[in-house]
Amino acid sequence: MLDVKGVAVVTGSSSGIGFETSLTLARNGFYTYATIRNIRKSASIKQMANKEALPLEVIQLDVNDDLSVKNAIGEIISGKGRIDILVNNAGYGLVGPIEDISLEELKAQFETNLFGVIRVTKQVLPIMRRQKEGGRIINVSSIGGIVGYPFSAAYCSTKFALEGLSESMSYEVEQFGIKVILIEPALVISDFHNNAKIVIKSDKAANSSPYTQTMNKMFEAYKQVVEEYKMPAEEVAKVILNATISANPDQRYLVGKYSEMMMEAKRTMSDTQSHNMMESQLLGSK
Ligand SMILES: NC(=O)c1ccc[n+]([C@@H]2O[C@H](COP(=O)([O-])OP(=O)(O)OC[C@H]3O[C@@H](n4cnc5c(N)ncnc54)[C@H](OP(=O)(O)O)[C@@H]3O)[C@@H](O)[C@H]2O)c1
Repeated sequence: MLDVKGVAVVTGSSSGIGFETSLTLARNGFYTYATIRNIRKSASIKQMANKEALPLEVIQLDVNDDLSVKNAIGEIISGKGRIDILVNNAGYGLVGPIEDISLEELKAQFETNLFGVIRVTKQVLPIMRRQKEGGRIINVSSIGGIVGYPFSAAYCSTKFALEGLSESMSYEVEQFGIKVILIEPALVISDFHNNAKIVIKSDKAANSSPYTQTMNKMFEAYKQVVEEYKMPAEEVAKVILNATISANPDQRYLVGKYSEMMMEAKRTMSDTQSHNMMESQLLGSK
C-alpha cells in the first residue's frame, strides 16, 4: 500500500470521469472514497482497486439526498477524521428545447448538477475549515459552463451557475486555506451521452415538434465534432490530479483541444461572431 497523502472524496464514481479520477487519486497516494449513488454499480471499481491494492473505498452517496450525503461524510470522518480533497463530479445532461423541458425536469437538472454540489460542499466545508492544512474543492464544470450550446440551455445554465458559485465562494474560503477549482472538459468518452435525458415534445397536429428539424441537424453536426475532438476520461483525471497536487493550482483548468479552442473563441470574438460560429458549426446556418 502507498503512503497516504491525504483523503479524497469523489462523487459520481460509477463511470467516466469520476471512475477514472478515483482510481488516479488512489494510485497517487490519496486515500480515496469513490462515492456511488447506486452501490450495485461498484463491482468494477472495487475489482480494479483490489487488483492494484489501492487505498480506495466505495461508499454510497446520492448528491440529491440530504441523508445519504450526511451519512457518507459522517462515515468518512469516523474512518479517517479528515477530508483534504473533494471532487464534485456527479452530473448529467438534459438536452432539448427549453420550451419543451418541464420545470420539474429543469429543477431536477439543477438539483443534481448545482444543488448536489452545494449539498456535498456544505457538509465538507466545516471539516476542511477546521483542518490546519485546509483543502481543495474541485468542481467538474464543462466548456458548457463558459459557452452556451443550442438545445443545452438546461445543462449549460447549471454549469454557468456552478462557475459563478465556485468563483464567488473561493473568496470566502481562501482565508481557511481552501481552494475552489473548476475543471472544464468537453467531449469526454464516458457514459454521459447514454445517461443524458433528451426531451422533445411532439406537436400532435404536425406529428413533430417545431424544433425537431433543427435539433436533428444539431445532433448530426455534434456527432462529427465528437469524432474529431473526443478524449478519454483518463485525461480529465490527470488534470484533476494536477489540480490536486500542484502547490499553486489555477482557478480553472480547460481540458482538451476543443475546450481550449472554444475558450479562445470566447476571448477573442465578439458575441455576434461567436454566435455565428456556433450556428455554422452546429446548426449548419450562417
Ligand atoms: N462527458 C463529457 O463530455 C463531459 C464534458 C464536460 C463536463 N462533463 C461533466 O463531467 C461530470 C461526469 O460526467 P461523465 O462524463 O463522467 O458522465 P457519466 O459517465 O455519465 O458519469 C456521471 C456520474 O454521475 C453520477 N450521478 C448522476 N446523478 C447522481 C446523483 N444524484 N448522485 C450521485 N451520483 C450521480 C452517475 O451515477 P449513475 O451511474 O448512478 O448514473 C455517474 O457516476 C459531469 O458533471 C458532467 O457534466 C462531462
